[in-house]
Amino acid sequence: MPRKPSVSPIGHGRPANRRGTPIPRSQEWFGPRDLEGFLHRAGLKAQGWPEETFAGKPVIGIANSWSEATHCNAHLRELAAHVKRGVLAAGGFPLEFPVISLGEFFLSPTSMFLRNLMSMDVEEMIRGLPIDGVVLLSGCDKTTPAMLMGAASADLPAILITGGPQLKGNWKGEELGSCTDCRRYWTELRAGRITQAEYDSMESAIYRSPGHCMVMGTASSMGAITEALGMTLPGGAAIPGADMRRSALAEQAGAKIMDLVKQGVRPSQIMTEEAFENAIRVLLACGGSTNAIIHLAAIAGRCGIDLPLSRFDDLSRTTPTIVNLKPSGKYLMEDLFYAGGIGAVMKRLSPMMNLECKTVSGRTLGEDLEEAQCFNDDIVRTLENPLYKEGGIVALKGSLAPDGAVIKQTAASPKLMKHKGRAVVFESYADLKARIDSSDLDVTPDDVLVMKSAGPIGGPGMPEWGMLPLPKKILALGVRDMVRVSDARMSGTAFGTVVLHISPESAIGGPLGLVRDGDIIELDVAERRIDLLVDAKEMTRRRAATKAKGVAPAEGEALPWASRGYARMYAQHVMQAQYGCDFDFLRGKTPVQTHVQAHH
Ligand code: FES
Repeated sequence: MPRKPSVSPIGHGRPANRRGTPIPRSQEWFGPRDLEGFLHRAGLKAQGWPEETFAGKPVIGIANSWSEATHCNAHLRELAAHVKRGVLAAGGFPLEFPVISLGEFFLSPTSMFLRNLMSMDVEEMIRGLPIDGVVLLSGCDKTTPAMLMGAASADLPAILITGGPQLKGNWKGEELGSCTDCRRYWTELRAGRITQAEYDSMESAIYRSPGHCMVMGTASSMGAITEALGMTLPGGAAIPGADMRRSALAEQAGAKIMDLVKQGVRPSQIMTEEAFENAIRVLLACGGSTNAIIHLAAIAGRCGIDLPLSRFDDLSRTTPTIVNLKPSGKYLMEDLFYAGGIGAVMKRLSPMMNLECKTVSGRTLGEDLEEAQCFNDDIVRTLENPLYKEGGIVALKGSLAPDGAVIKQTAASPKLMKHKGRAVVFESYADLKARIDSSDLDVTPDDVLVMKSAGPIGGPGMPEWGMLPLPKKILALGVRDMVRVSDARMSGTAFGTVVLHISPESAIGGPLGLVRDGDIIELDVAERRIDLLVDAKEMTRRRAATKAKGVAPAEGEALPWASRGYARMYAQHVMQAQYGCDFDFLRGKTPVQTHVQAHH
């Protein structure tokens, strides 16, 4: 009877050698005394590693999204050095490699357009390289979800460490948050309340240390979500990038990934349905970024878990917003760190959390939270004294958004939460830029600003254009908020009564594409509704006329920007916002191949 191969905790069920000893995955590269083994070992020796340093040891990849073109991640090579120390001290061998890095500031048309490409890079590097586990280093908005998506699909043991938030900005004695306050003062500049020179002087005062934006924007929200999912070590979300405790955390991650490799703990055992529920609770309690909804849906999709918008809304009704951070509240991530970090938030939320979920610490979430404490009840409120009774983000539906839309109610004006107004329509972002400040624009503060062609296909890449600027003539009246509606996203640092992610988007025939100047739009957040009050007959007539004019490309129609390359693949496969804008063929996971399989 053939002997059953023994199951290796390091080799994750991979075949044993002739003596029955389990073979770690990496040793399929470095172990054999043949030509291939020769070349693999020589590749390390060529970098000055003597064989005794790596022979027989688990190899830990360090996937680094360091880049000078991503300022939030520019310090990640130093952090990687700390991960390496941890790996070496724990008896492993570290192998740092770069992956695509997506910075919010420099990339055109938008970093979101490339998030799926980065996730593919991460997944395929994990699969292709001779590693047994991986520490993922991220920071700026899209880098964290892209890494979690890739790691979920590859499903090799993984820990994610972010570069942490920046220290608080300080300008003329005022504490500033990136980039909520850049936006707020930009509005003041356009309204003529500050000078250009004053605005310019803020540039270096607000970004003054390593790390990502330090309001509860997308990067901070994704950090919080990663901690709630259990994919980073306790404390991982809030330690500032400039604080040496983040270096220590990176070193601990280097040691901890060795444990996960030995025990064969994969992301699929951490990122369970219950863990996603925890992540949504934390996002809602933080008044976090609307972008995080899209990213969570995409990460869950890689884990084979559906997260419909209705799930977010159900949890939103029973999760109070307890974190008092900009843009929904008053403080910044550095303050949250001193108040106890996301651990303090989860401790407060513990009656509604799934505490049995396993985390990369090797313990349960409940065990991780045993030492968590809150040191400031104004920054992390109690459940009895929340900032808002409900969660920060709610899902909407209605005749304008049959497949859903979202609004961040905690960053909106209470008086506009139920509002009916006349549509002022911009056909695209270019149209908006050309006309928004025109003295001829027929607009009043009670109108609803509508922008089309900013969704996953229309943008393309669903750019963060959703916080439409208010017309100058409205600003001159002292008005600072209006209802704004689009199929775009908005930055997690943005604010206002802004309805986003309208699905289906205008470019593929959604009703948003048929809105005309003067139509009446009704928003009712309490009822979770966004409706276009135009009768069905008229909509049918408009739909026919629009197609006849060829204004909106039909689904699947060739798009001028997508004739070849990545753009073509994107246009053919990107899904709508409610599915996380992932590519249809990327959902789910593929187990890592053995080295031998990969070569044949
Ligand atoms: Fe990187 Fe804001 S620009 S997180």
